Formats: sequence, C-alpha cells, structure tokens
Amino acid sequence: MNRQALGRKFARLATNAVVARPRLWRLFRGVMRRQFETLAPHWDQIRSADHLAPYEQALEALPEPPAHALDVGTGTGDGALAIARRFPQANVVGADLADGMLEEARRKLPDEVAGRVRFERADASALPYADESFDLVAHANMIPFFDEVARLVAPGGHALFAFSIGPETPIYVPSERLRAELRRRGFAEFADFAAGQGTALLARKRPSS
Ligand SMILES: C[S@@+](CC[C@H](N)C(=O)[O-])C[C@H]1O[C@@H](n2cnc3c(N)ncnc32)[C@H](O)[C@@H]1O
Repeated sequence: MNRQALGRKFARLATNAVVARPRLWRLFRGVMRRQFETLAPHWDQIRSADHLAPYEQALEALPEPPAHALDVGTGTGDGALAIARRFPQANVVGADLADGMLEEARRKLPDEVAGRVRFERADASALPYADESFDLVAHANMIPFFDEVARLVAPGGHALFAFSIGPETPIYVPSERLRAELRRRGFAEFADFAAGQGTALLARKRPSS
C-alpha cells in the first residue's frame, strides 16, 4: 500500500474512532496534524475541481444569509471563501490545526473579502469561541466534534457537513449518524444534498423558545 492510501485508511480509522469516542482524538491528533502539514503545499492540486459542490449546494439552501460563520478544518480555506463570496455581509472564520494549511489559506485570500475572513489555528475538539457565537458552523471533509458544534451554533442557526466524494471520502460520516448525534443535541430540521461526486447534510438548531 502506498503512502497516500495508508493516509486515507488512517483518516477513516480516526474518523470512526473519534465519532464513537471523541476522547480518543488526543491519540490521533499529532499524526493527523503532521499528515496535513505534509499535504498542505499540494492540497489544492490533489482535489477535484468540484470538491466543494455539495458544500455549495447546502449553502444555497440556507434560508437566511449567515452573519457569523465558521469553517472548521478549513484546510487551504476554500470553504471559508465560498461562504464569504456567497454572503457579502458574512464575517467568516476558518479554523485549522495545521499551520501549513493556514499559510496557504492566507496566501490565497482575495483582497475583496480580506476584511471579513480570518484564518486561525484552533482544534475543533475545543474551539476558542464563545457559546452560540456563529449562525453557521460548516465542515468540509472534516471529523465532527458534536458537542462543540452544538455549543457554538446559535439557536435557529445551522451546521453543515459536506463530503467531497460521499461515502468514498476518507473522512466520512453517514448522514444517519450525523442526524442522530445532532438530534440529541438540539438540532431538529435536516436536509440532505448530493452534488458533483459528493454529499452534504444541513441541520438547523431549534430556535430558543
Ligand atoms: C481532509 S482536510 C479538509 C480541508 C478542507 N476543508 C477541504 O475540504 O479542502 C481536513 C482538514 O482538517 C484539519 N483538521 C483535522 N482535524 C482537525 C481538528 N481537530 N481541528 C482543526 N482542524 C483539523 C486538517 O489539518 C486539514 O486541514
């Protein structure tokens, strides 16, 4: 098995383990970070042109434009930029563990959105943001940390999970599993999408009563 195939296998193993037991993340964190540091300079070349198609489709379905959005595991920042371009009033944070990814993201940041988009180093398992501070928390090809997602999304806000090549994506969580975890944490409305080669789920947190 070559190195890339091994990396993909490891990513799937880590995803399944961490979704089942989030505390196991500390065992995977170092290797995952190093893996993505190595991939960072080539990341934009190794993805397909339509890698964000399901993510874009879910953004399109949002009933209102978000004012504060977070792209978790942003990599080289394409998800954060997609939000900023689509919603001209949105302030967007892209968070990632790997400095190399963040460097690429900052290098690519176009002037026209630079005042509204920032990239920060942060771990999705314990994010340095206030409770309910985002009306959209988005993930593309990223291991979800459900307690953090539920903490950060404002009442009535949305969480988005996209996987560029659907179930073939190394970091993949089936929609039924996402729904079950989110339902237990106060999310009530769900919509599935398929676009390009990928899939996405959009979930809405219950508004406060
Ligand atoms: C498969 S890449 C996806 C990057 C980007 N979202 C995309 O779709 O092109 C996963 C990214 O998540 C980052 N990552 C993995 N685990 C993370 C965590 N717990 N906290 C923050 N970033 C994480 C990695 O460094 C990597 O950049």
